[in-house]
Amino acid sequence: MTFFKIRAVQTRAIVSFVGACGLAGVASGVLSQSANAASVLEGAFTEEQAVRGQTLYYQHCLQCHGETMAGVDKAPALAGPQFGSTWNNAPLAALVERIQTMPPDKPASLTREQSVDILTYILWYNGLPLGEQELDTSTEVLARMTFQTPAP
Ligand code: HEC
Repeated sequence: MTFFKIRAVQTRAIVSFVGACGLAGVASGVLSQSANAASVLEGAFTEEQAVRGQTLYYQHCLQCHGETMAGVDKAPALAGPQFGSTWNNAPLAALVERIQTMPPDKPASLTREQSVDILTYILWYNGLPLGEQELDTSTEVLARMTFQTPAP
């Protein structure tokens, strides 16, 4: 019941975030055309992908990691300085592999595509910008790109 209400609010938050960044998004879209972003700081995933990830996060992760990714009980935060100090400069491929160990009682139950979608929602929640191209699910691309947090 409240589940859907919360989700609607969160989705709106993404939409207004895009609104605020619309101009920058258009400008970088013109520059990068169809090339994949080189860095998560340059818009490495789309809004649609992050919204897909949000749905999966609400189904499979929310109960332990929390609506604001602050962590609940023993489950650590998935956003903020603590998470950044663990994952900054780590390849996204490593983070996807970590996500695939989750939930702890059902490891490897998500497909790789689903894990990458959830990753993009985590990236968005850590303040990283939306882009024009979906984040690629190939290990090759994800091994080259590292987790970064935007400068405060
Ligand atoms: C039943 C509770 C539970 C669920 C559900 C769950 N997690 Fe976790 N998660 C944990 C716990 C506890 C840890 C730390 C200990 C461990 O690794 O098992 C953790 C650790 C993590 C880490 C490592 C964090 C760090 O600081 O390095 C990531 C990333 C993560 N979870 C993502 C997810 C994602 C994504 C989902 C949904 C697909 C999910 N978790 C579902 C309990 C949970």
